[in-house]
Formats: sequence, C-alpha cells, structure tokens
Amino acid sequence: MPFRSHFCGTLSQADEGAKVCLAGWVDVRRDLGGLIFIELRDHTGRVQLVSDPKVNGEIHEVFETLKPEFVIKIKGKIKARPDGTQNPELRSGAVEISPSEVMILNKCKTLPLPLENFDEADESFRLKYRILDLRTEKMQKNLRARHKITQSIRDYLNKSSFLEIETPILTRSTPEGARDYLVPSRTQAGKFFALPQSPQLFKQLLMISGFEKYYQVARCFRDEDLRADRQPEFTQVDIEMSFVEVDDIIRMTEGLLQKAFASAGKEIELPINRMSYKDAISKYGSDKPDLRFGLELIDFSAIMSGSGFESFAAIAQSKGLVKGICVPNTQDWSRKEFDELRNTCINDYGAKGLAWISYKADDDLGNSPIAKFFKPEELTQIKELAGAKTGDSIFFIADKSHQMVNEVLGKLRLYLGHKLKLIDENLDKLVWIIDWPLLEKDPETGSFAFMNHPFTAVNPQDSHLLALEPESARALAYDIVYNGVELGGGSIRNHQEEAQKRALGFLGMNDEEAQERFGFLLQGLAFGAPPHGGIALGLDRLVMMLTDSESLRQVIAFPKVQSAGCLLTGAPSEVDAEQLRELSIKSIKASKEKN
Ligand code: AMO
Ligand code: AMP
Repeated sequence: MPFRSHFCGTLSQADEGAKVCLAGWVDVRRDLGGLIFIELRDHTGRVQLVSDPKVNGEIHEVFETLKPEFVIKIKGKIKARPDGTQNPELRSGAVEISPSEVMILNKCKTLPLPLENFDEADESFRLKYRILDLRTEKMQKNLRARHKITQSIRDYLNKSSFLEIETPILTRSTPEGARDYLVPSRTQAGKFFALPQSPQLFKQLLMISGFEKYYQVARCFRDEDLRADRQPEFTQVDIEMSFVEVDDIIRMTEGLLQKAFASAGKEIELPINRMSYKDAISKYGSDKPDLRFGLELIDFSAIMSGSGFESFAAIAQSKGLVKGICVPNTQDWSRKEFDELRNTCINDYGAKGLAWISYKADDDLGNSPIAKFFKPEELTQIKELAGAKTGDSIFFIADKSHQMVNEVLGKLRLYLGHKLKLIDENLDKLVWIIDWPLLEKDPETGSFAFMNHPFTAVNPQDSHLLALEPESARALAYDIVYNGVELGGGSIRNHQEEAQKRALGFLGMNDEEAQERFGFLLQGLAFGAPPHGGIALGLDRLVMMLTDSESLRQVIAFPKVQSAGCLLTGAPSEVDAEQLRELSIKSIKASKEKN
C-alpha cells in the first residue's frame, strides 16, 4: 500500500465513505478501557482514529503499543462521527477512521516533555530539543507563515523584473558597523575571509555591471550583542536598482510591503507617511518611533530658562534641553513608584535625574518635590504647554546633551506606554524615517562615523556643508519602521569615484588605504557606474512582526542564543589540533590551558 492517498488535516464530511491511506505521527492517544482513540498528525493537521477490540482484535493489539510520536501508516474508511462526538476545533473533526490496516514505521523514545507542554517550557530546553519544538503547532505555523511571506516578496520582485543573484559568503569585510565573523584561509596562511555583514558592495558592483534590478534573499553575519530582535546570522531581502531616486525605492518597497502584509492577512494603506529623522528624535526620542500611541516629547526649555528652579534654568540657559512627557493614568501612583521610575531613568537609561509634577484636580497647579521652586504663573505655563489634565503627570529630563535628553525620554515614553497599556496592539503603524544625517560626530574625539554606511550619498542640497559642518549634512537615506521596530533601511549611493573617496576620507582613510580596502569598488565606480540605490529589509524581523512573535528565535528554524551559540548542535565547538595546524592557527586558549 502507498504511504498516503490523503492528508489528515484536509479530511471532512465530504470524504465520508472514502477509503484512505494516511501516514504521520501519533499526536494524542486516549485509552478509554474498551476503545482506543488516536489523533494522527501530518503537516496538514490531525484526524481521529478509533480502534475497537470487538471490531478488529489484531489492529487493537497494535494500537495498545502506540505511544506519542510513533510514526505509523494506516488504511481505512472515512465515517462520520456519531452525533455529539464531533470536535469543532479540528478541521477533520466531523469524521473518524477505524483502520483496517496499521503499520508502525518507526518508534519514538519517551519524550523529554509531552509536545503539548513545549509552549510553556524554558526556551533553552526548547532550543536543545528544537527538532521536537518545531513539531509544535505554533512553530509549524510560524515557519509556514515565513515561507508564504518570503514567496510573496519573491513573486512581487520577479513580476517587477528583478533578477535574483547570489553573492559570495566568503568575502572581504563589509563595513555595516558590527564585528566580522572571520574564516581562516588554508591556502593563504595568515589571511582571513570575512562573512558578509550584508551584500552591500556586491549589489553595487552588480549595478555597475548593468543588471539594473537585483534582489537576493541574503544571509548576513554580524558579530554583535544579541537582543530579541537581533541574531548573529539573519536574512535580508536585499535590493538594489539603477537610475533611481529616493522616491522610486520608497514606492517599490511600499508595493512589496503591501504584498508581504497581505500574505499574512494584514492590510496596509499606501503611501506610508514620512517623517524626518530630526522630527522623530525631537518628538519621540527615537529613530524608530512607535506611533501606536502619543506621549510626544514637549520642550520646556523656554519656560525653565527664566524659572526659579536653578538646575533646570542653568541647563536651559547654557543651550541644554529641558524636555518632558505628559503621562495619563498616574493618579494612583505612590511616591515609591515615582522614585522607582527615577531610579530606572538614572540607572538604566543614563539620566542624571528625573523630576515630575502630578495633577490631582482640575484647578491643581501641580504636586511635586520641585513645585516650590516655581512661581504660580510658571506652574500654569507648564501645565498649559503640556495640556495636562487631572490624573496626568509630567516627567522632566534636563541635560546639556540634547541627545541624552531625547534618548532617555524616548525610552521612558516606550516604557510607560507599555506599562500603562497606552499602546493599541491592533494598530499597524508604518513610517518612513527620511533625511538622516550622513555623519555622526563623536563629541569627545571629533571623529566622524557614518550613520548608515560609507557608501551612502549626501543630499545634493547639503553637499556644500561637507566642507563646513559635515555633521549637519543630510544623507539620501531612509529607514522603514513598523510599530517601533526598524524593518529595513537603505540609501542612494555614491556613484562617482570622487564622491566615494571623499566619503572614505571622513573615516580618516587616505587614498592608499581606500585603494587597499575598497579598490575593487572604486575601480568599478570609475568604469561608468550608473546612479543607483537600494534597500535591505530584515526578513526575520518582518516575519516576527507579522506573526506577532516576541523574538526572532520564534521565526528562525535553528536560531542562536545569547552567547551566539546553537544549543541543538553545540556550535561553536572546538576543532582538532590538526585542523588548526593546517590553517596555520594556534589557539591561545588551548595553549594557556596546557600551561
Ligand atoms: P542595515 O544594516 O540597516 O542595512 O540592515 C537592514 C535590515 O536588516 C535587519 N537587521 C537584522 N536583523 C536581525 N538581526 C540582526 N543582527 C540584524 N541587523 C540588521 C534590520 C535592518 O533594518 N546594506 C544595508 C542596506 C542598504 O543600504 O541597502 C544594510 O545592511 O531589519
Ligand atoms: P535636586 O535639585 O538635585 O534636589 O533635584 C530635584 C529634583 O529634580 C529631583 O527629583 C531630581 O531627580 C530632579 N533632577 C535633578 N537633575 C535633573 C535632571 N538633569 N533632569 C531631570 N531631573 C533632574
């Protein structure tokens, strides 16, 4: 008999009377003394099998030996379940099968935990037994959603005449801001490949080679500290186009996102709003603002500057910032809760302090340890500027460093947004962050770093600033942000050799160093490079968001953990001395242990 004629999850009352062959796993087994019920599972779902010793003694003997996750094959006839025994939770819940044949294809050891309890198990346990974890309904659903989303993106790009081209994994370092993963060369002792942090330079070279529209579902490798939304090995939908401007890339990406969201059952409206980097930082204290709630940052510097609260007045007068957020639902807060929030701001967010004023009644000018420093009219101005109502509190952060004030308030805004449940989880808020600064100046050393990467073009309106005040020049760069998560980013590139050399100069590279590291790119730019630009979307992040998952680990089949290791395979692992010798490598750790 063949393995299967049908699949478990697709059977329904319409199949009543059909003779079927099914194969799969024993999901649940219930022994009711006389009858034994089994839920047989395959990749489509489950169906109920029943064995009655009075009907078929031989089959019943086999059923008695079956345990969860045994692999079996059965043959039998579909019949309707008796009235009142239907299971509305199963797609096949109206039918069942009394097998006429059964064969055990493989046994299964006792599971470390029943599959149905994996959901609540510790994550390290689940990752160690990832093979079993992936059998759970949730993980099956997530990886199927990932496939569907990826295919919808491929389909969109294929239909828009993009070409999928692979680029090398063993390559030279691509500067995306993280540490490289290095691979030693055996044939060239002492030299190393770097795994790509992104295919950035190769996709630009493909534009120079005349392909015009490229994409790749590309693996990227970055040795950086892990977070819920960061993996050392992740996937980008990487895109590059020639003869385009910012608007062209944005429009193409919006179409792509609309299709990807639709494949996950979500509708989005186009065009997506755009916000300048400057506004994002000043209103939300973040370059990836979560727009599902308000709590916009308010600038109190002007009021504070002339006020009697000396420490704030001094900061405001010396071109520092005094900003705050006005937060509702704080009427029941105890002094302890305010103090704890101050400690969080100081210890976790790096603030110097946190001040607050709370309003208990409509005519209340504000209760606060700092209220005594202000005149009544100043308190009125503060309340009016914030639009504060009964039950609100204003939280203030003051500092000379504007960046610190915005950053701390941005974190506080998010923290309180979650804590006070001000975020409408049903909203889908997408926003483009545009007009990024090209460069970032280190206030201590005065050295420059690129906000995006060093291949990003300056906004031509600001190119004169590169000589005068480089940190004020805007780039032709954009990020797409979804509910406070950066989904992707890209830019228009330098397509002329001179512009690219100048950019590398900001990193302190002279011509010789630039040639040594990026000679292949500079050479390409000199051979008639077309204007070009692109974007990369974090596929793992997109799937995480569209499946409402909490971490990337729930949407990657075999993810890494905090230590950047794999709990399933035990990678990274030690290697033989012989392998190291061949690579001309000596491990300091190994020789230290010997000594
Ligand atoms: P960028 O570095 O912004 O741009 O990366 C693009 C997108 O990739 C995702 N991403 C990650 N996802 C999971 N784990 C990580 N460690 C991780 N790092 C990044 C994010 C991010 O928005 N070459 C440029 C793109 C370009 O200019 O075209 C680049 O890689 O979703
Ligand atoms: P002080 O004048 O230091 O006693 O501070 C009075 C209140 O203002 C305390 O609640 C401090 O936490 C707060 N505070 C002090 N410095 C700052 C600052 N830089 N930003 C915000 N609040 C501050």
